[in-house]
Amino acid sequence: MEKKTVLSGIQPSGILTLGNYVGALRNWSLLQQDDRFCYYCVANLHAITVKQDAEALNRRTLEAAALLLACGIDPKRSALFIQSHVKEHTELAWVLNCGTYIGELNRMTQFKDKSQRHADNINAGLFTYPVLMAADILLYQASYIPVGKDQKQHVELARDIAIRFNKNYGDAFIVPEPIIPKLGGKIMSLTDPTKKMSKSDPNPNSYIAITDEPSVILKKFKRAVTDSEGIIAYDPERPGVTNLLSIYCTFTGKTPEEAVAEFAGQGYGKLKTAVADAVIAELEPIQNEYKRLLDEKTYLKSVLDDGAAQARSTARKTVDDVLRRVGLDATVM
Ligand code: TRP
Repeated sequence: MEKKTVLSGIQPSGILTLGNYVGALRNWSLLQQDDRFCYYCVANLHAITVKQDAEALNRRTLEAAALLLACGIDPKRSALFIQSHVKEHTELAWVLNCGTYIGELNRMTQFKDKSQRHADNINAGLFTYPVLMAADILLYQASYIPVGKDQKQHVELARDIAIRFNKNYGDAFIVPEPIIPKLGGKIMSLTDPTKKMSKSDPNPNSYIAITDEPSVILKKFKRAVTDSEGIIAYDPERPGVTNLLSIYCTFTGKTPEEAVAEFAGQGYGKLKTAVADAVIAELEPIQNEYKRLLDEKTYLKSVLDDGAAQARSTARKTVDDVLRRVGLDATVM
């Protein structure tokens, strides 16, 4: 059986939230199926497009890897690796940079956002970040790229880069497709449910971190902003309750109708506690496993070494082929 390849990456920049869990980590683990092989990387090269403290970056990179394992990434079905351990990423990125137009990069909405937020550090890496991401994807001949909605534009650029390269140099790359979760993108802030839940929100009550203690999770849900109407309904006019209901459905597998029926006529307190319970039931075992793995240094190192070796062997084949097609192998005959 010819297996299709899945690839995704996560940046090790700070706290990972319930939004990251539902939108990314949880799906990554579900995508590990018999007819696929997955490559999952901790995208630390991407992280330095904004200022990082070296020690903290190293620590968070390894923590992100441990968290991925705790969320169910299985080293037998997936290559789990650190992006900077596989030099082919930067090597291919250069070639792809020369096949990407400034006009295309100028259209990237994330670049526009980030250059506003980091106005004192609009570096060239921030600008060419989507090309590095295209290299991540194309190196492994990945067909499916699970990402949040915010990354869709980057995957589309990777497709355009692949199509153009294939046209100019012959079929070197599989043209990838994004896989966007229907529910995941929709987890909203608990303090302002009209905004997306975000780890960069200065108010920690606005988000649930994957590593928040159960008592903290309960407290944050209890404080979640709702409204004064006391009506349990999916209603865009009542974003707070709607957000709680949709988190509840995501974590229990119930349909919106079932959830509404279950809490109809009850106060928001019941719903809040039930949401917290459902989230804790899923996150607590992950948190325990995460803590255990952080102490299993030898195991973690062996998983990451194996993952990088496996990634490298696939990536090398692609880069060698690309160099040959472009006329960069320069072998003396
Ligand atoms: N840019 C992605 C993000 O910030 C992370 C990422 C890096 C990625 N390389 C990737 C996602 C390759 C998918 C495929 O979320």
